[in-house]
Amino acid sequence: MNSNSASVTESELDKTKLPAHVAIIMDGNGRWAKKRLANRVKGHEQGMEVVREIVRACREIGISVLTLYAFSTENWQRPKMEIAALMTLLKRFLRSELLEMQENNIRLSTIGQTERLPEDVRKLLSETMALTHQNDGMLLNLALSYGGRAELVKMVREIAVKVKAGDIEPDAVSDELVTRHLYTKDIPDPDLMIRTSGEMRISNFLLWQLAYSELFITDTLWPDFSRAEFVEILKAYQRRERRFGKVYEQ
Ligand code: IPE
Ligand code: IPE
Ligand code: MG
Repeated sequence: MNSNSASVTESELDKTKLPAHVAIIMDGNGRWAKKRLANRVKGHEQGMEVVREIVRACREIGISVLTLYAFSTENWQRPKMEIAALMTLLKRFLRSELLEMQENNIRLSTIGQTERLPEDVRKLLSETMALTHQNDGMLLNLALSYGGRAELVKMVREIAVKVKAGDIEPDAVSDELVTRHLYTKDIPDPDLMIRTSGEMRISNFLLWQLAYSELFITDTLWPDFSRAEFVEILKAYQRRERRFGKVYEQ
């Protein structure tokens, strides 16, 4: 799709009804490569190009927070060579996108057990986060070594320590208190969650935060995903009625 026709359909978006936070499970890189009889890493490389395109689209459209599921706690069980390739790609992405993030006022943050990442990746991440710290145009939040269950376990432990020390009463444990002990404490829950490649599952992503998110699953493999399809999903999101457990009239 050329940029002209893309901008025509984008103009149909209702700017007052955009999701503030979009979360994406970027799945299907391996299948994309397999279809081409290529190594899985080729799929991850092409997937990174799509990350660039979707980050730019979100910034231009006016999404406040974009969370990308880039590596799960379970993904540590993949072959060492694939993990190494993913880490190399992540470093390449961070180096090549820094300028773009600065020019477009994008702040980088991460969620997950980032202490498990290789030292050089951690260093580059913290440098990039420090350099983009002041940017307030959009938050790009990378879920790296992220698992929803691990996040909940961490939250329970932290609260248990406070209860044991007598700092809080068990009755004081509330929805808000739980939220404040998650990696996502500073960001609103996703309004929209997209998964590419057709799997009908959450795969340990944002278990608490997705409680009332609108879900969209597309069969498109992540390396084939595009700004045009993203915009179509945003439009479909705008046609949905979010009820949050209430009745329509409310
Ligand atoms: C998503 O693509 C990328 C990561 C999980 C890191 P996959 O690598 O899971 O691709 P498929 O699911 O095997 O096609
Ligand atoms: C989910 O994809 C994790 C990421 C996209 C980073 P997976 O490919 O790991 O999930 P499963 O194995 O299909 O559930
Ligand atoms: Mg997968």
